Amino acid sequence: MDTGHVFIFDTTLRDGEQVPGCKLNTPQKIEIAQQLEKLGVDVIEAGFPISSPGDFKSVVEISKHVTNPVVCGLSRGVKKDIEVAADALKYAKRGRIHTGIGTSDHHIKYKFKSNRERILEWGAEAVTHAKKFVEDVEFYAEDAGRTENEYLARVCEAVIKAGATVLNIPDTTGYCLPDEYGAKIKYLVDNVRGIENVTISAHCHNDLGLATANSISAVMNGARQIECTINGIGERAGNTSLEEVAMIIKQHPRLNLTNNINSKLLNPISRLVAERMGMLVQPNKAIVGSNAFAHSSGIHQDGVIKHRETYEIIDPLEVGLDESLIVLTARSGRAALAYRAHKIGYTLTKLELDRVYEVFLDHADVKKEIFDEDLHEIISATRLSSKVEA
Ligand code: KIV
Ligand code: ZN
Repeated sequence: MDTGHVFIFDTTLRDGEQVPGCKLNTPQKIEIAQQLEKLGVDVIEAGFPISSPGDFKSVVEISKHVTNPVVCGLSRGVKKDIEVAADALKYAKRGRIHTGIGTSDHHIKYKFKSNRERILEWGAEAVTHAKKFVEDVEFYAEDAGRTENEYLARVCEAVIKAGATVLNIPDTTGYCLPDEYGAKIKYLVDNVRGIENVTISAHCHNDLGLATANSISAVMNGARQIECTINGIGERAGNTSLEEVAMIIKQHPRLNLTNNINSKLLNPISRLVAERMGMLVQPNKAIVGSNAFAHSSGIHQDGVIKHRETYEIIDPLEVGLDESLIVLTARSGRAALAYRAHKIGYTLTKLELDRVYEVFLDHADVKKEIFDEDLHEIISATRLSSKVEA
């Protein structure tokens, strides 16, 4: 287990697609799956085959259309679900069944009206059944975030014995704090017999904005797979964002971890998913938001123009963008104005710059943001009026 490689398990097409109003059709799912393959994800969770004929068909078609990633189908820990998932995966070059059951007392008592012993057996039975169809079986302990560690360890041990290859420890409700979730993973590493033969997976939700932090805490404590979605889409406040974890691993050599993601494709795939799902990305979203590489205050702009790394920790080219943006607002200084003027073809003398800057500020106070076409007008009008004055 303990190489520093982190497998990226993308669930945009399953947990991500559970967003209200964001249904994709099969051709759109195939298109996204093929881009995920180019991006370098290790596993594509293609759907929940028993949930609808459409989902079943999408898992079948994605299995036919991708080659390298493992294709995974979700099921409840129910025989019929598992069989339908196996059927949907029959064309996959490498298929995985993802089955499981809720293990927290909330789930055991209110959802299943059962008890811990029965749930433990049930989980192991689900894995045993799935193993009849595929070698690669991932077990999820739903609501593991709120499951007592000692009991969770017993469940993990039972499903490993039954043949699970991957153990998914979901923080289904997004409740855990990073140190608590990391400690949970460490507890399992230290207390579950046979855990060295399986991959531990982090599956975090973002209800408290901690999904990325929790996933990183998990890999710092022994998890070697992260389940995530493009743009962090998913149920309620969403899942761990793929672009964030991929870039954290890349930007922090101290973690001593690697992944297969081609980061230059992160922005293109983010736009593709946002467009196909009709779900806009918040402008301040890390890595892929429209403001993620935009600078608008004069002090920052001056710094970035002098040397990009003064205010940027990631080169925009690394994540598939052409450049950082210097946005002209009333907070911008002369350096930003001269820079943007130069970009659109004007080299201003110091005197010209002073004049243009004064007019620019009047416009910027009214208009909030000054675009290239506004700047053309401001510069032409100012130059003309200075000629007339002369
Ligand atoms: O959040 C969760 O617990 C899940 C499981 C079904 C894996 O999505
Ligand atoms: Zn989930």
